[in-house]
Amino acid sequence: METNNIQNDLSLTVRELAGAYEELSLLYRISGIYSTLSIDEICSIVVSEAVTTLGVKTAVVLFLDEKGETLYTKAHKGEWNSARQFPRDDGVIWKSIETKKPLAFCTIKETEYMDYIPDINSLMVCPILGKAKAVGAILVADKALNEEFFSNDSKLLMAISTQAGLAIENAFLYAELDALSMGAIKCLVKALEATSYWTAGHTERVTEYAMGIGHVMKLETETLEKLKICALLHDIGKIATPKEILNKSSELTAGEWLEIKKHPVVGAEILEELKQFKDVILGIKYHHEYWDGHNGIFGLKREEIPLIARILSVADTFDALTSDRPYRPKNSKEKAIKEIIKCSGTQFDPAVVEAFLKWVSL
Ligand SMILES: [Fe+2]
Repeated sequence: METNNIQNDLSLTVRELAGAYEELSLLYRISGIYSTLSIDEICSIVVSEAVTTLGVKTAVVLFLDEKGETLYTKAHKGEWNSARQFPRDDGVIWKSIETKKPLAFCTIKETEYMDYIPDINSLMVCPILGKAKAVGAILVADKALNEEFFSNDSKLLMAISTQAGLAIENAFLYAELDALSMGAIKCLVKALEATSYWTAGHTERVTEYAMGIGHVMKLETETLEKLKICALLHDIGKIATPKEILNKSSELTAGEWLEIKKHPVVGAEILEELKQFKDVILGIKYHHEYWDGHNGIFGLKREEIPLIARILSVADTFDALTSDRPYRPKNSKEKAIKEIIKCSGTQFDPAVVEAFLKWVSL
C-alpha cells in the first residue's frame, strides 16, 4: 500500500516535470537556429563570421557577467587582450549596449579607444540583444585593408549580432533545460537510494561503467546522453519494491525474486509521461533481457533488445558481482570479468562484452 502511494506520488511528480519539460523544449525547438550548438561554439562561429563578412583583423564577443555590471571576453579572433574586463560605463562598448545601437569610429585619434588594441585604426561595436535584455556586445576592429567602416558594415554587424543574440538565448535556455532534467533525475535517484542502504553508489558506478563501454563503442553524443540518463534511472522501479526484500540479509526466495523482477516495468511506468525519454524508458524496461532470448523478463533477443539496455546489462551485472550483498561477499574484479566472459553470447551481447573488456583493460 505504502509502496503504491510512493509510486503514485512519483508518477505525479514526473507528469508535472514532463509538462515543464515539454514547454521548455517547445520554446527551444521553435527558436531554431544553431539549435544543437553550445554557447562557446556559437560565440566562436560569431567571431569567425564577423572576421570573414566584414574583413576585419579583430572580432570579439563580450558577455555581461551575472550581475550585468562587467563585460568579459567570451570569444575572440585576432589581436585582443582577453583578460581585460570592462566595468559599467567604461567607454564605447557600454554606450553601445545602453543605447542599443551600433557605434563606429574611423581613423581613431582619441586615446580613449587606443588601448583596446595597440595601434588601432578603426572600431565598431554592436550590442548583442536578447529578447528581454542585452547579453553582451560584438566588437570589430581594423578592416584588413585599413578601409573605414561604412553604413553597410554596421548593418552587417547588426545582422550578425541579432542572430547571435537569438542563438545565445536559445543556448542558455537549453542549458537550463538540461540542468532541470539532470536535477530531477538526481532527485529520483536519491529517492531510490534512500530505500535501500546497499544500493548507495550502485547507480553512480553503473553509470561510470556504462559510459566507459559506450565510449569504447564510439557511440554518438546523443546516444551517450541517453545511456547516461538510462544508467542513472535504470533501477528507479525498485522504489516500489518492498524495503524488506531490498534489504533482506539472506538469500531471496523465488517469490521475492519475482517481486524484484517487476522493477524494469515499474520504472518504465513511472517515467512513461516523459515522452522525450522514449529511448531511455525502453533501455530501462529491457535492461534485464538476455541476448539469447532465454531467462529474460520479456523474452526479447539479440538486436530486439535496445543497445542501451544491452550495455546497461553488462555494466549492471559487473557492479553487482563486484559489490557486497547482504547475503554474500563481493567477488574479485578478475572473477567478475571471467563471469562476464562466460555469459557472452548467452546473457550478454558479445560486441558489448568485447567493448567492456577493452574498457576494463584501459
Ligand atoms: Fe535492474
